[in-house]
Amino acid sequence: MLINNDTIIKDDNPLMREKSKSVKLPLSKEDRDLLMDMFNYVKDSINPEIAEEKNLRPAVGISAIQVGVPKRMAAVRLVDIDKNDNEIIHEYCLVNPKIISSSVQKAYLKSGEGCLSVLDEHEGYVVRNARITVESYDALQDKFIKIRARGYLAIVLQHELDHFEGKLFYDRINKENPFEEIKNALII
Ligand code: CO
Repeated sequence: MLINNDTIIKDDNPLMREKSKSVKLPLSKEDRDLLMDMFNYVKDSINPEIAEEKNLRPAVGISAIQVGVPKRMAAVRLVDIDKNDNEIIHEYCLVNPKIISSSVQKAYLKSGEGCLSVLDEHEGYVVRNARITVESYDALQDKFIKIRARGYLAIVLQHELDHFEGKLFYDRINKENPFEEIKNALII
């Protein structure tokens, strides 16, 4: 599937509010191909030359609903720093991911969140859980995995999983006080 800035569905489309359905395993060729196209989108999107040529907006994640397919699949690829200050690449092609536990502690990105399906600015803190554990099938490794995510990765995973429920990041911004201080939150 051709995935670019023009084909990605935007938040004025009611489909973005629909719940996505579980995916049958083993993956069909069609589902796997779509998930790989989504993964290649996020991978290519951070390369300025390819992004320009293919009309991609930089992204760290994309869910299938954003290309019009209401299935619980998401591709995630981001570079983070581990506790020893080493660069670490997190990359996943998630199928039916599920959060099985979350921390009480909250977290948010101080610059707010963005989304390939959202063109308008929505300023404010998007408050999420600081740590989550996700169980999922991963089509990159072709096995069931458990991800213990904290910080940025935890935020990105929660953002993508929200798409399965028809939720967008700005739904989670406090409308009365978008920059309300959150006690004990991890600020990223
Ligand atoms: Co999004």
